[in-house]
Amino acid sequence: MRIVHLTDTHITGYTSETFDSVMHSMMSDLKPARDYLVVITGDVQDYYSDTNIFRVMMRIEYLRAAGYNVFAVPGNHDLGVGVLQRERCLRRFCLSMYGRLVEFPIVEVFDDITMIGLNTLDQELNWYDAIGADGELGQDQLKRLNDALLKLKTKSVVIAMHHDPFDTRFMHGLKDPKDFRRVVQGKSIDAILTGHTHLGDSRNGAWGVPRFYNGGTAIGRFPAKERGPFRVFDLDTEPWQDKRYYW
Ligand SMILES: [Fe+2]
Ligand SMILES: [Fe+2]
Repeated sequence: MRIVHLTDTHITGYTSETFDSVMHSMMSDLKPARDYLVVITGDVQDYYSDTNIFRVMMRIEYLRAAGYNVFAVPGNHDLGVGVLQRERCLRRFCLSMYGRLVEFPIVEVFDDITMIGLNTLDQELNWYDAIGADGELGQDQLKRLNDALLKLKTKSVVIAMHHDPFDTRFMHGLKDPKDFRRVVQGKSIDAILTGHTHLGDSRNGAWGVPRFYNGGTAIGRFPAKERGPFRVFDLDTEPWQDKRYYW
């Protein structure tokens, strides 16, 4: 199964059309659909609202009905307005996306790939912490991540998370990248996929992880000037063979 990395789709009224054009280009290029797992690393909507999550889920269900596998994690814009996160938005995100309330990391197996989804807003929901666009995984989630990484049964493992551990911007970055690194370094992880910065860079090989990708933004939102890059890759091949699409 090949992975398609989409992120920061920021779906709302005025961006839906842009995303739909990306989605239809993807669907015409990547066939058969069942061979692909679409991973969306957060900020699926521009701000939390019942209308926006409905817009998102309509599109995800459309992809699933066409045969694609889809796996998504929340970003700061999914849990409020981007700079103020709320617990109730996380609950609604989980019910819409997974059909149930979940404890992160969420672990799902797709053929020979274990997807591990993190919530980088885990420690950003407290009253004293909810303001700002930064992220924090927290010790409890990292402990559960460590436990999950010790129990893997599939050939390949991919971690999906919204905040980029290399993002050091004030009030925007991940607060505990060193703790995260301690948990993942030395484990057998095939790829770490992130979003949030909208810059789409890669740090392949960092921490011993062959693929370490930031997915940019699916709709070309600030500060990116363009959509994507949309990376499509097969974990059984070398990273230099990964394809980039400009949908
Ligand atoms: Fe974003
Ligand atoms: Fe974000």
